[in-house]
Amino acid sequence: MSFKLDHAVFFGRTWDECLGMFALKDTDLSGLRILDCPGGPDALVAEGIKRDLDILAVDPQYDMSIDVLAAQGRKEIVETMEQWQQDPGTAWDQEKADEFKRLKLEALNSFISAFGEHPERYVFGSLPELPFEDDSFDLALSGNFLFVYASVERGGLMSNDQLGLDFHLEAVRELVRVASEVRMFPSFAVTGPPRRQEFVEPVMEALRSDGHQVDFVPAQWVEGEFTEFNDLIRIRKAGRSGTQSS
Ligand SMILES: C[S@@+](CC[C@H](N)C(=O)[O-])C[C@H]1O[C@@H](n2cnc3c(N)ncnc32)[C@H](O)[C@@H]1O
Repeated sequence: MSFKLDHAVFFGRTWDECLGMFALKDTDLSGLRILDCPGGPDALVAEGIKRDLDILAVDPQYDMSIDVLAAQGRKEIVETMEQWQQDPGTAWDQEKADEFKRLKLEALNSFISAFGEHPERYVFGSLPELPFEDDSFDLALSGNFLFVYASVERGGLMSNDQLGLDFHLEAVRELVRVASEVRMFPSFAVTGPPRRQEFVEPVMEALRSDGHQVDFVPAQWVEGEFTEFNDLIRIRKAGRSGTQSS
């Protein structure tokens, strides 16, 4: 059966995976007000707290109890990876898939501990309307949601077109409203032949027309077998400074 999803799964990356996909080093982050949107069960806040960072995550599933999130996270990691590996159009080398799954479970465990100990760092909310004032953050990191949850026909994972180009434009402008710099990953299509996801160029053009500096930055981490078009999108808001990282 061909791989398709009907919702965004509760699936998160480890600290090292996140830093690699956003092409950042630990030292780039100190002193910044950072938003992880959506955070899902990734390890950014959990590991960020250990490094004394000023970091918050937002996600529409943070209104659920810790037990529900833990159970749902485990189930979705296992079932989604099974489904991914069963479709010859998406399947990876099994060793790579097993390692990918192991790291997702590791990230989930670290999320669950931090969510229990620091609930104030996890804010309920969703794009395209975030519960923050303008310019609340120096850096917004947005991984594995935008562009990924377009329809399969457009290089995403979804069985429907609910998150179309208009949603993406609104969501990215919302991230720019709340943060001086926005980094989004990935920009490649996650299904179909290797290429950019279809909304990437129009979103980048629109944000340039709004006056922002928008460019691709090579990621420093490879997700599974996605070796081509492996760039993040960086937006530097007109008149603001974000990270010092190039
Ligand atoms: C795959 S996770 C990404 C987690 C993390 N950023 C990472 O890279 O591993 C996708 C998340 O998107 C969240 N989500 C779904 N709809 C959303 C929306 N409208 N706005 C923000 N987040 C949303 C889901 O709850 C889910 O936790």
